[in-house]
Amino acid sequence: MSVLSLTSPRARGLMVLTAHPEGCRVLAERQIARAKEAFPKPLPAAEGKTALVLGSTTFGYGSSTAIALKEAGFSKVIGLGYETPPTFRKEKVAMAPAGWYLTHALHTAYPEQRTYFADGFSDATRDRVIDDLKSGGEKIDLLLYSVAAPRRSHLGETWNSALKVIGEPLTVCGLDYASGQHKEVTLEPASELEIEHTRRVMGGDDLDLWVNALLYGGCVNTGFKVASLSYIGPEFEPLRRIYWDGALGGAKKHIDMTTAAQNARLSQRLDGAAFSSMNPAVVTGASVAIPAMLKYIADYLAVVDSGIGAYDDPLDVGVNFTRALYDDGEPWRDMLDEAGRLRLDENELDPDLQKAITGSWADAKPGDPPPLTVRGLELFKKEFMQLFGWEVDGVDYEAPAEFLPDLGEGVVQLVDE
Ligand SMILES: NC(=O)c1ccc[n+]([C@@H]2O[C@H](COP(=O)([O-])OP(=O)(O)OC[C@H]3O[C@@H](n4cnc5c(N)ncnc54)[C@H](O)[C@@H]3O)[C@@H](O)[C@H]2O)c1
Repeated sequence: MSVLSLTSPRARGLMVLTAHPEGCRVLAERQIARAKEAFPKPLPAAEGKTALVLGSTTFGYGSSTAIALKEAGFSKVIGLGYETPPTFRKEKVAMAPAGWYLTHALHTAYPEQRTYFADGFSDATRDRVIDDLKSGGEKIDLLLYSVAAPRRSHLGETWNSALKVIGEPLTVCGLDYASGQHKEVTLEPASELEIEHTRRVMGGDDLDLWVNALLYGGCVNTGFKVASLSYIGPEFEPLRRIYWDGALGGAKKHIDMTTAAQNARLSQRLDGAAFSSMNPAVVTGASVAIPAMLKYIADYLAVVDSGIGAYDDPLDVGVNFTRALYDDGEPWRDMLDEAGRLRLDENELDPDLQKAITGSWADAKPGDPPPLTVRGLELFKKEFMQLFGWEVDGVDYEAPAEFLPDLGEGVVQLVDE
């Protein structure tokens, strides 16, 4: 046993540097318990199936959907994420990221699971996964693409994605995480090169490489489905410009084109399907970095807390996704919009909810935010800290925690620092 007392997190700016192993374990178990409740018996269409989830290792959409799929009857989930082990420097321990401890909890619950800690953008990783599938005689029924990355390297080049708008600069009143104050921010327009680089990181190129490798490797079953997660959000001006009409949205539109082309191939040849899944906004690391996005999600949480509308957290969305695909009568077919995208964002786009959120934006000005936003930030911070295993109700943060758990043979570590 390697134990350590960790009573509070270390942070640098907006980055939480220490994860809490016990908090991560308890949180994962609570998600599993919620998914068990959602699926008291397996869905016949899900039973015995295998998923490959790219981006499965953080408390985000990949892991929550993996949990829902397992509890709905999938026999195996093969996951992949970029996670590094704890390190020891000058006799000090740097904890592993939360994803390491979350993966440990998932492998404890699902010993047949396999997870790769690797750079999913590298050809060597893809080759390794395909080789393992072939040698194990495993075939995939569902590929869930849930990777979110700030940069991608491929064939000797590295590209960074840009959190920028397109066209004119956008000045908007956002929320500052550290001070809790309303703050005016200006998002600069992305250059054509930045738009293209963002597309290369978060667009469909990497997804296409994976789908082709699986198809040409003979690693998929009839009925094979591909779902790539995406976000469109509400139509109101700052949000639309920041995301869907911004550089990131450009990449997500490329995902739409990629999945549409894959859908044409898969539906003809394999009775399969491919689509983008438009998921709702949830609390993640990325939302803190964009003050306007932070304000939007904080106000969203507070409006729901005040009794209007509903907020679906990643596990709710994972359950909704699983039901859409595998409940009786293939509900997903009636849940596609005119562009062929699966819509799981109905609750976020509810008109009454949106009216209450935009109302709070109309007279926002720098300085002290209104009580609604203050409450929203409080709710956001708690959920944000939980992404790292902190502020989890019922966890004794005074007790020593095992920081180097044995991950077992199911975890294939291709990243070592
Ligand atoms: N968070 C939101 O509000 C939101 C809303 C709608 C859609 N989405 C979409 O859902 C998807 C997942 O987002 P999330 O918020 O769950 O993100 P997240 O940061 O929680 O998870 C991202 C995953 O990608 C993995 N990853 C990153 N770089 C990698 C690499 N080089 N190799 C292998 N794995 C790598 C991480 O390890 C992690 O498992 C994204 O496509 C995102 O755009 C997110």
